[in-house]
Amino acid sequence: MSPVQTLSPYRYPGGKTWLIPYIRLWLRSRLTRPCEFIEPFAGGGSVGLMVANEKLADRVTLVEIDEAVASVWRVVINGEDDVGLLTDKISTFVMTEQSVELELSRSATSLNDFAFQTILRNRISRGGILAKGAGRLRKGENGKGLTSRWYPETLCYRIRRIVELRDRITFIHGDGIEIIRKFLTRQNFAFLMDPPYTAGSNGAGSRLYTHAILDHDTLFTLAEQIRGDFLMTYDNDQMIHELASGHNLHLTEIAMKNTHHHQKTELMIGKDLSWLHGNQNPE
Ligand SMILES: C[S@@+](CC[C@H](N)C(=O)[O-])C[C@H]1O[C@@H](n2cnc3c(N)ncnc32)[C@H](O)[C@@H]1O
Repeated sequence: MSPVQTLSPYRYPGGKTWLIPYIRLWLRSRLTRPCEFIEPFAGGGSVGLMVANEKLADRVTLVEIDEAVASVWRVVINGEDDVGLLTDKISTFVMTEQSVELELSRSATSLNDFAFQTILRNRISRGGILAKGAGRLRKGENGKGLTSRWYPETLCYRIRRIVELRDRITFIHGDGIEIIRKFLTRQNFAFLMDPPYTAGSNGAGSRLYTHAILDHDTLFTLAEQIRGDFLMTYDNDQMIHELASGHNLHLTEIAMKNTHHHQKTELMIGKDLSWLHGNQNPE
């Protein structure tokens, strides 16, 4: 299978780039290509961007409630401000402790400003965390400190590539639950739901995201009613096993390596996971 081409400008905590080979399998196993692929909890959006890039669905909709995360998508996907100014800012920014301090201490005066500050914060914070209290990279990779994750050319390349995909992608700054509710009855829609999760034993979501509280029972109740297709991913937690069985959904455990290369298992939940049989480790 082809390697994963990263298109997101974000390093996203809990990002799902590792899931991409599974998403390809899932969407290609279907008899018809979905007319719409929706990510109601988009975050860094790496899966939806891949789906658009590889035309695995006619259209893609990303939804995100966090206004900082959304600011980047509003400029890059929706064109609500001049994306050229954003890439200019990224390519000309000279990163020092002082310039970062100055940039992040001033109030954003435009959507572009807000988007730039968000990308900057994302690239210099530990683990890409944008929630309050996130620490900054100190040593970074190879002792390069703050600049260790700042690749202006790559960021601008990715942003320009997303701009080329604009006619296939829509971004909605809003509540993913409401969007699921709105499109529940659409037959040929496919949803990838990767919600923040705080109820588990380590409650990691509350540290990673500004918006980490979600009514998971409501999400499962809606998922059960989806007429099209969906896939949900969660941390491996007993409560999620119980919710899935209580809502008559299929569940399987998937082994993956997290960003620290630790082996862990995640849960995949769907209506029908038969496409996964014999394909537990797609490349
Ligand atoms: C686990 S992360 C998604 C990561 C994403 N799959 C990726 O690959 O980057 C969950 C995201 O859901 C967002 N979120 C939380 N509540 C939401 C809601 N009600 N509607 C939309 N997004 C929400 C959080 O801000 C966070 O970005």
